[in-house]
Amino acid sequence: MPRGSICWLLQAVALAAAAVEAGRSRSLHRDFDAVWGKRNARFFDDGRVVELALDRETGSRLESKDRYLFGRFDLDIRLVAGESAGTITSFYICTGGARHDEVDFEFLGNVSGEPYILHTNIFSDGKGEREQQFVLWFDPTADFHTYSILWNPLNIILYIDGTPIRVFKNNEANGVPFPTRQPVHVFASIWNAEEWATQGGRVKTDWSEAPFVAAYRRFDATSACVWQGGASPTRCGGDHLPSSASSWMAQRLDWWSWMTLNWVRMNYMTYDYCADRKRYPHAFPTECIIPIGRI
Ligand SMILES: *[C@@H]1O[C@H](CO)[C@@H](O)[C@H](O)[C@H]1NC(C)=O
Repeated sequence: MPRGSICWLLQAVALAAAAVEAGRSRSLHRDFDAVWGKRNARFFDDGRVVELALDRETGSRLESKDRYLFGRFDLDIRLVAGESAGTITSFYICTGGARHDEVDFEFLGNVSGEPYILHTNIFSDGKGEREQQFVLWFDPTADFHTYSILWNPLNIILYIDGTPIRVFKNNEANGVPFPTRQPVHVFASIWNAEEWATQGGRVKTDWSEAPFVAAYRRFDATSACVWQGGASPTRCGGDHLPSSASSWMAQRLDWWSWMTLNWVRMNYMTYDYCADRKRYPHAFPTECIIPIGRI
């Protein structure tokens, strides 16, 4: 299939997802606090849209009020337009603590007119170094797109507008730690990372173009499991929904999703730690060797 057809296909999926999303939106005030660079977090439209800005003094970060143990988290983001070199706009879940678990969407900015790189990473039990990078098949600054982290006991799946781009399976049986015990906060942020973000750190932030502003809306964790603390069980919104809506708890990639994921990997993936022979001259990490289609 030529590159054009998968583009068309992905766009059709995106449009369908956007139509479903259109009805839904609630205030981000309900779900998040600005915990860093407060004055650079500006809420609009009754809190339904928040803009996070990076200027010379500070970036900004939102943290979810709730902690979650498993969930599907969707967030719409519109990235910094024009000059964005040196900046990173992010959406991630993280436990904190010494042996932390973390799943990252990090958008590495670029000079005006050059493409962003989507940098993803997954930490389990304090260990990360599982980078995968992608270019996007659309202009992420022109409009909002939905970025999703699905985390259940079977796997972690990252989606863009409903299209799976990455999966990390639970390989605890093969000795690879998988996040199952520590609750996460959800974060959204923008910060300055000019030492490494753009073209390997060669291009620095152009402060004459500041402030750099990214916009967020439509956070959805309504079926995620809210952690109550201590010995209390988690409360999963999905339990109160029709079973189809809580099906994320058992979700894995079906045949069609595997096909789509592979097309994304073939056409848009620019780095995969599992294929980096310079870094792993002798043996790839365990999770790389286990056949990807198994389980
Ligand atoms: C920025 O643009 C250059 C040139 O097109 C490209 O090599 C690079 O991967 C882009 N992204 C980042 C984050 O450096």
